[in-house]
Amino acid sequence: MSALTPPTAWDIDAVRADFPILDQEVHPGKPLVFLDSAASSQKPVQVIEAMNHYYRHTHANVHRGVHVLSEAATELYEGARDKVQKFINAASRKEVIFTSNTTESMNLIVQTWGRVNLGPNDVVVLSVMEHHANLTSWHILQQEKGFRIRYVPVTPDFRLDMDAYQQILRDEPVKAVSIMHVSNVMGTINPMAEIVRLAHAVGAIAIGDGAQSVPHMPVDVQALDVDFYAFSGHKMCGPTGVGILYGKKALLEAMPPWMGGGDMIRRVTLEGSTFNDLPYKFEAGTPAIAEGIGMGAAVDYLSNLGMDRVHAYEREIADYLHDRLAEVPGLRLFNPDAPYRSSVATFTLDDIHAHDMAQILDSEGVAVRAGHHCAMPLHQHFNVPATSRASFYLYNSLTEVDKLVEALYIAKRRFSRK
Ligand code: ALA
Repeated sequence: MSALTPPTAWDIDAVRADFPILDQEVHPGKPLVFLDSAASSQKPVQVIEAMNHYYRHTHANVHRGVHVLSEAATELYEGARDKVQKFINAASRKEVIFTSNTTESMNLIVQTWGRVNLGPNDVVVLSVMEHHANLTSWHILQQEKGFRIRYVPVTPDFRLDMDAYQQILRDEPVKAVSIMHVSNVMGTINPMAEIVRLAHAVGAIAIGDGAQSVPHMPVDVQALDVDFYAFSGHKMCGPTGVGILYGKKALLEAMPPWMGGGDMIRRVTLEGSTFNDLPYKFEAGTPAIAEGIGMGAAVDYLSNLGMDRVHAYEREIADYLHDRLAEVPGLRLFNPDAPYRSSVATFTLDDIHAHDMAQILDSEGVAVRAGHHCAMPLHQHFNVPATSRASFYLYNSLTEVDKLVEALYIAKRRFSRK
């Protein structure tokens, strides 16, 4: 590194070279501009190769055999758990449960902790910006247990209304607070540590949905002091089919198991079963072994880049993105200002429907997501049926911001002729 290179300089060409999928034209003369990483990120060769190598050389079931391949597979799979533990700074590997995704992690909390601890006199606090995974999982249990749910509103500047949150905590017998760390729609970075601190002050537990935070910023679950925290592999350069539930050991130990099956038992007789220690108590059946190993490789990849540097680079993208978008007439943005925003732009343009917009952008090679982004209540709050969302990640360049803006002008021109 030359003396003139700042320590945080981001070698975007080197990073992009790790993601072979990015190097393609999706329509004649239209190179791919992939701006849909909040839905699912692309995978670097390091992750693809780790999974490929495992299937070619090491595949066998884990925790079950004493033969060479089973032991090797177990070592790789359990090694991935250790990597995740270190990545989020969990106190113990027993606190890191493999699930299939954030949604399953949220459902596990609700169906185990929630089922045992919630009754008709209790209140759970969620927010209007939550993903359906953190809404419907509670709605399902609410029908059975009859607890109430209070929703923290969103402010006109696209942030969590912390005054309203504190008022709810003062007014209600709150037992659990479950809030997303970063909004998948607005990109809002919520004050997670403060949310947790306030919940604990009234004796409630605090749950964080980390699906959109862990891929983009350093996350330290002990510093946050959060009781449970959920995230997915596929949004952080890893494969689909694997997610994580972090939980504090004492809480996990007190919770009943959720799914029954192999691996989660200690002893089974026809009279009943006793259950395995953490983390296996919550991991019934053959797990997604290759995916777990792929997630370990993704953690290595992100750790080598450095999450501080990833976050700093994405802030640079966010600043440039929002400066450029401010010039586009007719654009309505649904994102907070710095420092609460992330490298996401969610918008409507003139009266172009979000799905038409996504189609025109796609014809220019620009991939965005259109719809309600699994957050219908938030769109009801905005009073719009759908938005378009451009979500950037560590492999996107500033030039791709320009390409998005050019494509938005093309969409404007096409619709103004109609
Ligand atoms: N939750 C993912 C998204 O926001 C699928 O697109």
